[in-house]
Amino acid sequence: MVKYLGKKKIAIFISGRGSNLKSLIKYFKKKNSSIEITLVISNNPKAKGLEFAKKSEIKNFGLKYISKSSFENKSLKLLKKNDVDLLCLAGFMKILSRNFIKSFSKPILNIHPSILPKYKGVNTHERAIKNNDKITGATVHRVNEKLDSGKIILQKKVKILKKDNIKSLEKKVLKIEHEIYPKAIVKFLSKI
Ligand code: GRF
Repeated sequence: MVKYLGKKKIAIFISGRGSNLKSLIKYFKKKNSSIEITLVISNNPKAKGLEFAKKSEIKNFGLKYISKSSFENKSLKLLKKNDVDLLCLAGFMKILSRNFIKSFSKPILNIHPSILPKYKGVNTHERAIKNNDKITGATVHRVNEKLDSGKIILQKKVKILKKDNIKSLEKKVLKIEHEIYPKAIVKFLSKI
């Protein structure tokens, strides 16, 4: 007898523009997808990205970031209440505490605009150009207590051309991010 397994539920944390969220919504809306986005949380009630969740009628919360602990406690309650299997950070600009990661107890993924372990943290494109790098890219990785240091799930590279500047590089890398994040989620969830 085939046991019916429901869809895997993912939640997404964002902080601003939400272009990665938009591409994930588009991808997982597909018919027959075994993954659904059930919850979107922003640490900024004014985040533009929340509009994408609203338009697609996905439960969404813009929480005021009064303190790390209040944001994390409220988010944890929502994650548990919605029985989320995986949390995906997509342009989420806060660092989650060890306590949050432990209490959530389910895996967390993040997308980062560099080929990790190179350029952890912010201003990745600026640093790549300053160092005359010829290649950069994007990485989807597990989140642990150390910044941008968890196990790598998927990476894709892109060439840095002489004519590139921070803006053009950001555009190129963002395109790759939109491509690899859904694939990485599917790959990761198929193994757990
Ligand atoms: C992306 O480059 C992401 O990798 C980084 O912040 C940016 C967010 O973009 N952490 P968006 O909000 O998904 O458009």
